[in-house]
Amino acid sequence: MNDFRINAEQIGAAAATLRDGGLVAFPTETVYGLGADATNATAVAKIFDAKDRPRFDPIIVHLADAGDLETVTTHVSPVADLLARSFWPGPLTMVLPRGETIPPIVSAGLPTVGVRVPDHPIATQLIQLADRPIAAPSANRFGRISPTTAAHVSGQLAEHLDGILDGGPCRVGVESTVVDLSGQRPRLLRHGGVTHEQLQEVVGPVEIHRGTQPVDQAAPAPGMLARHYAPNTPIVLVTDPPAEPPGPRAGLLSLSRPGSTDGWARIEVLSETGDLVEATAGFFAALHRLDDAELEQIVAHGFPETGLGVALNNRLERAAARA
Ligand code: TXA
Ligand code: MG
Repeated sequence: MNDFRINAEQIGAAAATLRDGGLVAFPTETVYGLGADATNATAVAKIFDAKDRPRFDPIIVHLADAGDLETVTTHVSPVADLLARSFWPGPLTMVLPRGETIPPIVSAGLPTVGVRVPDHPIATQLIQLADRPIAAPSANRFGRISPTTAAHVSGQLAEHLDGILDGGPCRVGVESTVVDLSGQRPRLLRHGGVTHEQLQEVVGPVEIHRGTQPVDQAAPAPGMLARHYAPNTPIVLVTDPPAEPPGPRAGLLSLSRPGSTDGWARIEVLSETGDLVEATAGFFAALHRLDDAELEQIVAHGFPETGLGVALNNRLERAAARA
């Protein structure tokens, strides 16, 4: 059994690789990140190449400590300060005015930068030892299922990596919530590990940016692409629990155990007790297993539209979208 204990030497070597302009995959509490030195435009360009990511999709910058915020942004508003105190370290990304240390490629040319402080000891030590902000998207190929284990990462990106730190499965299991603070009022761009309700408890009303963008358009809220998080196997989203499989070699993804399990080629139950936190932690891994099971289709039963269920439904809808 791999016990995922990584020693300081391994983290130090990975930090040196980052300082030398290399790519290192590392665990965070949300999903694994594909990291590069955020102040090095050439290193960041390698991220886009490795992922096949369109250049219009900006990348999040990661800090070890909220106290370093001023090194990447020109202005920390009272709302940003309040959110940082409330949710960092943790699964919240804030879009703020971009500072000069961050080259435009990181933000796809936008005048803003997405920033977060991850809540994972390996990520924190890595960023501290690298001694610079680390740009890191989720460590999957563009549009594909996000990685919550090191094996998910190497399955998609092995040949592009200069290093990978295996920290075991990610605790939260979906990406950070992205909130845009560059306008008059906070705007939620992506649902994630911090719920809309939690945000509003701290800062009052937070508008939700709706809608998706076609893949080939520069977007004010990039990453809101209709098709994303997608398995290779076709996935069908249903609102009522399916009574029976639609055909042979169909797999089922469900929050809780269905009344009948007859006829399904594979069933992934995310939480026997219907707990959304547990379901979120296992969500992408279940999707990876279904995708690896050589099924003809995956049927996914939608989640309750509350709390983390909103982030999960959002990912299911994108995974099921055709284009
Ligand atoms: O939990 C996470 O956020 C993970 C871990 C590794 O930190 N990272 C992640 O990165 O999910 P990525 O690249 O897969 O998704 C980043 C999202 C995209 O939707 C991107 O468009 C948005 O954040 N984003 C980043 N910077 C932005 C900016 N300046 N303005 C608007 N959206 C931004
Ligand atoms: Mg991603």
